Amino acid sequence: MSENVRIADLEGGVRLVTLDRPEKKNALTGAMYDAMRGALEEADASEAVGAVVFAGQPGAFCAGNDIADFATRADKPFGDAPSLRFIRQLARTRTPMVAAVDGVAVGIGTTLTLHCDLVYASSAARFRMPFVELGLVPEAASSYLLPRRIGRLKATELLLLSEMFGAEDAAALGLLNGVMPSDMLVEHAVAQGARLAALPRSALQASRALIRGDQDAVEAALQAEAEAFDRQLRTPEAQARFRAFLDRSKPASA
Ligand code: COA
Repeated sequence: MSENVRIADLEGGVRLVTLDRPEKKNALTGAMYDAMRGALEEADASEAVGAVVFAGQPGAFCAGNDIADFATRADKPFGDAPSLRFIRQLARTRTPMVAAVDGVAVGIGTTLTLHCDLVYASSAARFRMPFVELGLVPEAASSYLLPRRIGRLKATELLLLSEMFGAEDAAALGLLNGVMPSDMLVEHAVAQGARLAALPRSALQASRALIRGDQDAVEAALQAEAEAFDRQLRTPEAQARFRAFLDRSKPASA
């Protein structure tokens, strides 16, 4: 468990997973990833949970992986990082997932939504995937899922140039089901989650698998990315970028 992730099972079979580290814009620590993974595993095992909704704090859905963790992870063995274990679980979760994005959604804050079945955002949402800028590579199968969702050229712009984009652009690209005022967002996402949870379970899961397509390809992409990500994490280039963010100074090479 993590004090920075609140898990509530609501009426209607909806499990609401709320990231709660506002002082760091909901940047994810290992303990937070573990809590999110546990919430998904339990949802899949539970008869009572029919949908999971991810939410953040006002103005901060999730600022991505905690960069201090990136800076120290190079010393640790590959394969059992909490982030990777969470991402693997995210890709294989059978329970439908809904995202409610308000404010910043950076890195995994954006790529997580590619695995959700329904995605809603407030008009204040700002998405960004600055992996390459940080000396890293895309993760969470985004290098596979995003080009298929929005086309290769636009995906290249977002993944290589780390372009920030707002809710209206995300909706136009087909990355959102709806944009609404912040104060309606979580309520709407929960209501949609409850609609999913009320559907016949086996028909829902079978249909969901058909819509999502080739699961093996997603998992293969995720694994290839994870290996490249791990190599990149250890490069002096990436380490300099992490230190620059943590020190709030520009890297010497920039
Ligand atoms: N890791 C660690 N700390 C983070 C963080 C992250 N990913 N994102 C934000 N924080 C911290 C900041 O260092 C700051 O801490 P401080 O108050 O102790 O200085 C606090 O959260 C607030 O962030 P701040 O940058 O002041 O807020 P902002 O509204 O100006 O900007 C972001 C928000 C998310 C746009 C900006 O913080 C950012 O770009 N963060 C890095 C995102 C990132 O690259 N994530 C990894 C993706 S792979």
